[in-house]
Amino acid sequence: MNLPSRHLLAIEGLHPPQIANLLDLAESYVLLNRSGKTQRDLLRGRTLINLFFEDSTRTRTSFELAGKRLGADVINMSVSSSSVNKGETLLDTAGTLNAMQCDLLVVRHDQSGAPLLLAQKVDAAVINAGDGLHEHPTQALLDALTIRRRRGRLQGLTVAICGDILHSRVARSNIHLLTTMGSRVRVVGPPTLIPAEAARLGVEVFHTMDEGLAGADIVMMLRLQKERMNGGLVPSAREYFRFFGLDAARLAKAAPDALVMHPGPMNRGVEIDSAVADDPARSLIREQVEMGVAVRMAVLDTLSRRARRNV
Ligand code: CP
Repeated sequence: MNLPSRHLLAIEGLHPPQIANLLDLAESYVLLNRSGKTQRDLLRGRTLINLFFEDSTRTRTSFELAGKRLGADVINMSVSSSSVNKGETLLDTAGTLNAMQCDLLVVRHDQSGAPLLLAQKVDAAVINAGDGLHEHPTQALLDALTIRRRRGRLQGLTVAICGDILHSRVARSNIHLLTTMGSRVRVVGPPTLIPAEAARLGVEVFHTMDEGLAGADIVMMLRLQKERMNGGLVPSAREYFRFFGLDAARLAKAAPDALVMHPGPMNRGVEIDSAVADDPARSLIREQVEMGVAVRMAVLDTLSRRARRNV
């Protein structure tokens, strides 16, 4: 599989066959995981380091599981107890890990572009696990795999991405992936939470849920990222839910068989009602988490094959 780089830093720039091939490989890992088998010979002798400068439950754990199921030695670096606290820079930290012959470096950072900077400095293959407001490529891949398994395709589907688009790297990666694969993408939210460049990304913009959800096949809710907001972009959580929260009545505006997604972590009662989030007939939220492990196995497999060729 020819990816444009030995790293995975973004969805932007990937072509449809590259995305489809990654999803096909991930599909084979879904089956492997469900069978209870592993493939520990694939990354035996390889070292994967999780370097997370921001909190994570799903991404970090699933990269750890993915690496271990493929036989890699996995190190979870605890940034909060590392020499970063003594003033060591991002580049010096990465250089230190590089000197330990790390093969795969999974990075989450609050600054957009931090994984790109590292990729220019280290020998390891760098995987972006979320950088600032920029991208979260493996999240978009796992979302696409989840949709494709349920709907059999991505092309021609209408996907409404709702909520705090402005601060969402998940939204940005999903917009690039879904538009590249031929989905119709809508973004729905208050004007204060929609980035000015949204229309340039090839999406339709809506400021009411009723209009944005009308006939949608997939409703993807996003977390209100209060930690990235400097001022009062929304009046209150209660008001926000009233206008932009997803409950059963609002979901009824979408297609009759519309499916609900959320990358997590969820703010129940802020952007999504528990009755919808926990409805096994409509919610794909747990399935997204399962797909996360398979997608990350596919990414590690692909990047490490490429690294082996370059040796
Ligand atoms: N979706 C996601 O990135 O979740 P975590 O922050 O728990 O990794």
